[in-house]
Amino acid sequence: MKKTTTTLIEMKAQGEKIAALTAYDYILATILDEIGIDLILVGDSLGTVFAGYETTVQVTLEQMLYHTKIVSQQVKNALVVGDMPFMSFQINPEEAVRNAGRFLQEAGAEAVKLEGGEEIAPTVRRIVNAGIPVMGHLGLLPQSVHKYGGYAVRARESKEAEKLRQDAKILEECGVFSIVLEKIPHQLARQVSQSLSIPTIGIGAGPHCDGQILVTPDMLGLFERFHPPFVRRYAELNKEMKQACTAYLQDVRTEKFPSLKESF
Ligand code: KIV
Repeated sequence: MKKTTTTLIEMKAQGEKIAALTAYDYILATILDEIGIDLILVGDSLGTVFAGYETTVQVTLEQMLYHTKIVSQQVKNALVVGDMPFMSFQINPEEAVRNAGRFLQEAGAEAVKLEGGEEIAPTVRRIVNAGIPVMGHLGLLPQSVHKYGGYAVRARESKEAEKLRQDAKILEECGVFSIVLEKIPHQLARQVSQSLSIPTIGIGAGPHCDGQILVTPDMLGLFERFHPPFVRRYAELNKEMKQACTAYLQDVRTEKFPSLKESF
């Protein structure tokens, strides 16, 4: 059954956990949709895990639209959310609305995600008022890596924790349908989740969020450059792919591939 933003809000109300993952291409989008994942985020994490950039800051709007279109074309059941990249929504609300609209109109997404709290509230309100569902994102904001000087756990201190609680409330008032909480203490994630009627989706934010998301190439053991401690690896695909490619390489060199059966 097709999942919508309303489905996710109802899941929270019924105490059902939401499972989300990222996808950037046709194969993964198809797999995730077939297994019944609730939400697929075409995350700007594709900058690091797909394109091999150092950060997500380099990811452009055109790149995000390209990948979002590929994913949304395949997906029949999951809610598809397109991630608004750095500088696609910060300049002014008008430009943000226009860019958010492109995710729905050109790329087939059903919602967009924006990183930030109170600072972007007027922008979020404008996008929501234009009829575009918005997912918030608080805690660690990878697009602000240069501002914070790294990817450390956020909101450990009470002042930052209080700001995060307020930001979550403000985003809910602006009409977001869900909020990603990234890399914050689990006690704070629980407080925020309990204080909202919209679902929180955690990544490195402990078990008390209303749902969970991981970057799929991380949890599949495909992306090996770093391994965040909160990522559970459900497979070791990088190793398996290396083994398979090495076997092919050897077979070609030793004339074991192709056989006559694999020839015409
Ligand atoms: O870009 C992304 O994949 C994300 C998730 C980490 C939530 O923002």
